[in-house]
Amino acid sequence: MTKRTTALYTKAGHYWSGITLAVFIGFHLFNQLASLMGANAHITVMQAFRTVYRHPVAETILLAAVAFQVITGLLLIFTRKRSSLAEKIQVYSGLYLSFFLLFHVGAVLYGRSRGLDTNFYFAAAGLNIYPATFFFIPYYLLAVSAISLHVAAIHYIKTGSRRWSGAIAVTGLLAAVLIITGFTNGFRWRHMPAANEQFIRQSVGG
Ligand code: HEM
Repeated sequence: MTKRTTALYTKAGHYWSGITLAVFIGFHLFNQLASLMGANAHITVMQAFRTVYRHPVAETILLAAVAFQVITGLLLIFTRKRSSLAEKIQVYSGLYLSFFLLFHVGAVLYGRSRGLDTNFYFAAAGLNIYPATFFFIPYYLLAVSAISLHVAAIHYIKTGSRRWSGAIAVTGLLAAVLIITGFTNGFRWRHMPAANEQFIRQSVGG
């Protein structure tokens, strides 16, 4: 296989795994926004969505898409020099997303292997417990912002539309702030179940 064919396959792999992930992320972020209506609303939405993405076939495809997205994304960085601002935003937001996806999905799978239900309280524990909150607020805020910046940059490179790319970026930044607001009960902080508190303290200290 020539270098050019490999690059084409890598690009196609990144595109299709990205589309697969984007469908999941759309529902997933809607699920996170349900936290604005309380923990029970978030859990009810998650239970409904889990009937689809926790199906063994769907989950295998999803986890394969995560692995593919991270690997092909890192490979694509080395294919050519990115010089415009939009290209730089695409690369740096993608780099953060690779880091986030590895840790986020790794944490969910580890939590599940330890017998925890990785529901609302699994993510909320990191956001509400001192001092872990100083790590988890920027960690999630940047992840949701990075998604919207990554998509906005790609949209700008493909269409040149400043207006729509700006709208995508601003919607994502707003969603990021609303999700943190929902999870922390408007920064009045939520009380966590003992098992989730213990998991966070054992995993990140405190
Ligand atoms: C503030 C933002 C986020 C929160 C609070 C959050 C929370 C969670 C929780 C609680 C789970 C476990 C789901 C379950 O047990 O059914 C999960 C799974 C997952 N999240 Fe997120 N997430 C956030 C953002 C993201 C983003 C931005 C991405 C992608 C870039 C992402 C990708 C995933 C994936 C791939 C899974 C694994 C699904 C599975 O196989 O169970 N998440 N997340």
